[in-house]
Amino acid sequence: MFNAEKFIEEQIAKVQADVKGKAIIAASGGVDSTVCAALVGKSIGNRLLAVYVDTGFMRKGETESVDKMLRRLGVNHIVVDASDEYFEALKGVTDPERKRKIIGEKFIRVFEREAKKFDAEYLVQGTIAPDWIESGGGLRDTIKSHHNVGGLPDDMHIKLLEPLRDLYKDEVRKVARALKIEVAEKQPFPGPALAIRVMGEPTRESVVIVREACAIVEEEIEKASAAGKMKLPWQYFAVLLPVKSVGVQGDIRAYGYTIAVRAVDSVDAMTAVYSKLPHEVIEAISSKITNKMKDKVNRVVYDVTNKPPATIEWE
Ligand code: XMP
Repeated sequence: MFNAEKFIEEQIAKVQADVKGKAIIAASGGVDSTVCAALVGKSIGNRLLAVYVDTGFMRKGETESVDKMLRRLGVNHIVVDASDEYFEALKGVTDPERKRKIIGEKFIRVFEREAKKFDAEYLVQGTIAPDWIESGGGLRDTIKSHHNVGGLPDDMHIKLLEPLRDLYKDEVRKVARALKIEVAEKQPFPGPALAIRVMGEPTRESVVIVREACAIVEEEIEKASAAGKMKLPWQYFAVLLPVKSVGVQGDIRAYGYTIAVRAVDSVDAMTAVYSKLPHEVIEAISSKITNKMKDKVNRVVYDVTNKPPATIEWE
C-alpha cells in the first residue's frame, strides 16, 4: 500500500542530501509539476526556482490561480509574461503544426533564459512511471546526468531531477492531497493552449474572444452538471472561427464572428463521441456568449462530429 506521507518524508530527505546546487522547474499549474515544485521547495527552499511562463494563451484566471497556489505552497517562483514575444513570433502564422512548433520552441528559449540567469544545476521534471516505462527505460536513480533535456541546449549541462519517477498517476494524486494541493479532476488541456482554439492567426484580440467563450462553456456545463442536468463531458471548450456572418442587433445589421462549441466523451482521446448536451445548456451558452460579446460574436454553433473523422481540437 502506497504511503504518501512516508514518500514525502523520504523524498525531502533524499533531495536535501543529494542536491547541493540550485534547481529550476517549469511550473504549469498541472498536478505533476506542482507536486514536484512543492516537494523540492520543501527540500531546498529558495535554491529552487519555479518558472511559470505566461504565453498569452492561458485560460481566464489561470495565471493568477497558479501564482496564488505556488505562493500558498511557499514555492520560490516567478511569473514570466512572455506574451509579447509569443504574439510577435506567431504573426501571420495560420498553419496549426507551425503554431505548435513555434510555441514549443519559444517555451524552451524563455525557460532557458531564466535557467541561465538563476544559474541552475538541476532541472526538475514531473516525469512519472508510465512516461519512461512505455518508452522502454530501465530502472534508474532519481537524479541522472542529462545533456539535452526536452530541447534545452547541450551547453547547459543541466542534471535532471525527477522526484516522481517511480509513481503512478493515482499515487501522485495521493501525494498532492497529502501536500494539500487541490487536485480537481481537471479536463485535459492542450499545451499550445488557446492558440490552437483560434482558427487562423492568434492575435491578442482573437485570444480575448476565445478565452471568454471557453470560460462561458466551462461555467455553464459545470453548473448544469452540478445541478444534475447532465454528466460532465470528458472535454469541453470553444473555438473561434475566422468566418464572419450577418446578424442583427436590435434593428441594426451586425457582422460578427462565429464560435463553435465542442464537448466530447472519450476514454483515451484516441476516439471520441460528441456529447449529447441538453438543448437548454447549449442555448444558455449561446445566449451568454452573444450577450457578453455583442459587438464581436453573433453566431454560436455546436459541433456534432465524432473522432474519427474529426479530431477533438479543431487544429
Ligand atoms: P485531438 O485534437 O488530436 O486531441 O483529437 C486529443 C487530445 O490531445 C489534446 N491535444 C494536445 N495536447 N499538445 C497537447 O499537450 C497539443 O498540441 C495537443 N493537441 C491536442 C486535446 O486537447 C485532446 O485532449
